[in-house]
Amino acid sequence: MKIMVVGGGGREHAIIKKIKENKEVTEIFAVPGNGGMAKDATLVDIGAKDIEKIVEFAVANNIDYAVVAPDDPLVLGCVDALEEKGIPCFGPKGNAAIIEGSKVFSKNLMKKYGIPTAAYEVFNDMEKALEYLETAPIPTVIKADGLALGKGVIIANTREEAKSAVVSMMQDKMFGTSGDNIVIEEFLTGPEVSVLSFTDGKTVVPMISSMDHKRAGDNDTGLNTGGMGTIAPNPYYTRAVAEECMEKIFLPTIDAMNKEGRTFKGCLYFGLMLTPNGPKVIEYNCRFGDPETQVVLPLLESDLLTIMKATTNGTLSETEVKFSDKSACCVIMASKGYPVSYEKGFEMNIPEEIEGNVYVAGASLKEGRLLTNGGRVLGVTAVEDNLKDAVKSSYELVKQISFDNAFYRNDIGAKALAVLED
Ligand code: AMP
Ligand code: GLY
Repeated sequence: MKIMVVGGGGREHAIIKKIKENKEVTEIFAVPGNGGMAKDATLVDIGAKDIEKIVEFAVANNIDYAVVAPDDPLVLGCVDALEEKGIPCFGPKGNAAIIEGSKVFSKNLMKKYGIPTAAYEVFNDMEKALEYLETAPIPTVIKADGLALGKGVIIANTREEAKSAVVSMMQDKMFGTSGDNIVIEEFLTGPEVSVLSFTDGKTVVPMISSMDHKRAGDNDTGLNTGGMGTIAPNPYYTRAVAEECMEKIFLPTIDAMNKEGRTFKGCLYFGLMLTPNGPKVIEYNCRFGDPETQVVLPLLESDLLTIMKATTNGTLSETEVKFSDKSACCVIMASKGYPVSYEKGFEMNIPEEIEGNVYVAGASLKEGRLLTNGGRVLGVTAVEDNLKDAVKSSYELVKQISFDNAFYRNDIGAKALAVLED
């Protein structure tokens, strides 16, 4: 069986490694992948947003099943285009991927169907937004409507900051057309939990919960990044919370999408905040999270490809989805200066015996040498019987890897461990 995975980061590397465990898989193509995956997949030099070329490649190479991992191609309708040519896919169609592609859509969906989320207002007129901010409660949260590489959210602690965020989105077009419409929402507090789920549009099966560490620096300081590390399971996500989320958030969301004629299949990611008033949705993603995937999939004991196909075929309720009761920790090694500006091209040294624990996010292969080629360079995951050991082991692995200008957070998992020790 020939598999194509669209995307090129650490998340895709984790997906590819897991899919490889299926004995029927003969070849995996990564489109475009990155140099660090060359041992696990055949790299195809086509950009993840170049839908036409992706479809052409898939048809020409008789791809049996495609996994579309990143938000951009999903929102652009990559799954629709592949399925039109008869290639079955993991991932939602464009009309369902809008749940991530437009914050205005997802906020209105939640309001319409009574799914708990922060109170909000939508604006397409800058003057009206600025006027609203004269009296809005502070802190407040400003969100660009469209995709913005995970950077379209600004938490404003003063009225001035809030106004300048609106001006930079709506007038200066900091996120291009993504900022034509904006959402201004209530600032919520509480621990955050990421819950990725498999769904075939009828059944929803949550994966093991996880915790991202979004800020660049230790103790949650510095700028927001794509994620500097993750742990799973998330100790705040108790059985009681899980049951409440299933009843008030997960099932109602699947139902709402069906009622809107936008059946969602694939991985639906719930970004949750456990507020004093119960769990609320901070965001939906139409895909696996990065770097959540790098801790969630190593704990999956069932066959990933079988589950993925079940989401496509509508047979998820009959399919085993089993997670280990161990814990995982992933530490991201980035290039100094990320998420702003950083240098690339430094040689990476990863001992062969630990390659199984490494998910490469940004690397290029030049004459057999692996060179850094991104802000987030790689993630190192350890799985152990408990979280404390997983954190310890992942940092021991990190110390065995080297490249110039490497930096990483030293406190991945610290907050979760403090909760467990309480
Ligand atoms: P997002 O890009 O939507 O994941 O948002 C980035 C981060 O901003 C989230 O992980 C939260 O930490 C924070 N955030 C987003 N919305 C809110 C909110 N309404 N209240 C408090 N924090 C928020
Ligand atoms: N780690 C957050 C995301 O994938 O959006």
